[in-house]
Amino acid sequence: MKSKILDILRKNYPDPVSGVEISSQIGISRVGVWKHIKSLMEKGYEIKSSKKGYTLQSAQDLISIASDDKNIIFIPVVDSTMDKARELAKSGEKDFTVIVAEEQTKGRGRLNRDWSSFKGGLWFTMLLRPEIPVQTAYAFNFAASAALVKTLQKLFKIDAKIKWPNDIYVNNKKISGLLSEMETKGDMVSYLNIGIGININNTPFAKDKETTSIKEITGKTASRDMVLKEFLNEFKAVKENLNIESILSTWKQETSTLGKDVRIETMNEIFTGKAMDIDETGALVILQENGIEKRIIYGDCFYNN
Ligand code: BTN
Repeated sequence: MKSKILDILRKNYPDPVSGVEISSQIGISRVGVWKHIKSLMEKGYEIKSSKKGYTLQSAQDLISIASDDKNIIFIPVVDSTMDKARELAKSGEKDFTVIVAEEQTKGRGRLNRDWSSFKGGLWFTMLLRPEIPVQTAYAFNFAASAALVKTLQKLFKIDAKIKWPNDIYVNNKKISGLLSEMETKGDMVSYLNIGIGININNTPFAKDKETTSIKEITGKTASRDMVLKEFLNEFKAVKENLNIESILSTWKQETSTLGKDVRIETMNEIFTGKAMDIDETGALVILQENGIEKRIIYGDCFYNN
């Protein structure tokens, strides 16, 4: 219902729409309309109420999937959805709660880097509580990047590929990144937060690499709502039927990393070699020039060929 109201307001932007008009379009009372508008305002949607009716304060592509879905928390501006997710996880928030923001003031990436998160991109964190041993938690990151690459390919018909560990690249430019944080309880996962940033209608920026966005590739503004909805459906299917072997096999089909000569930079070390495989612990196996295999859990990957 709330997303229908948002649709009506969006179509009429920048003009106001009266409560009577909305109530006749969606078939609920004016009081009902007001209740929904109030709850939308509480969720962070910027709607002005005046004698002439209700006016949306900006016509930009809204993330309205959050308006009706109780498992999705929408926050207009947040420091980082990772911090919010952690706070919620610590206070007992349920499995598969999604925190999505219009804008992050302290978005962060892997290896403590900043992640530019202006309006127009899709910035969200999934709070997950899988009842699995810590050693298998990595499968969720692989599942998320595989679901994401499939979503982007399906919606935009673009040649998106996964670059180890879980970045998505199109034409050698980064379009999306994934960051995960976990807390454990004994040898089991207590919570696992997976944060995803996708450059959609924003102009991305990163100091150290070339970046791109859906808008830059397709020449059109895209609906972030549609991307989030499609991704969550895709991910949910894998999550509910967790099969590590099949997750890894999908990931391997969708990566551009295996078979490449790579340079992997971790916090303190650099390794070079040929990317051979992902092992049963989720590590990247590279064959170094000295003939010795090296297994690497985390780092940045650069292609030498
Ligand atoms: C990377 O490629 O370095 C990972 C980037 C992850 C960015 C997302 S945006 C939503 C979530 N909140 C953050 O602060 N970071 C992640």
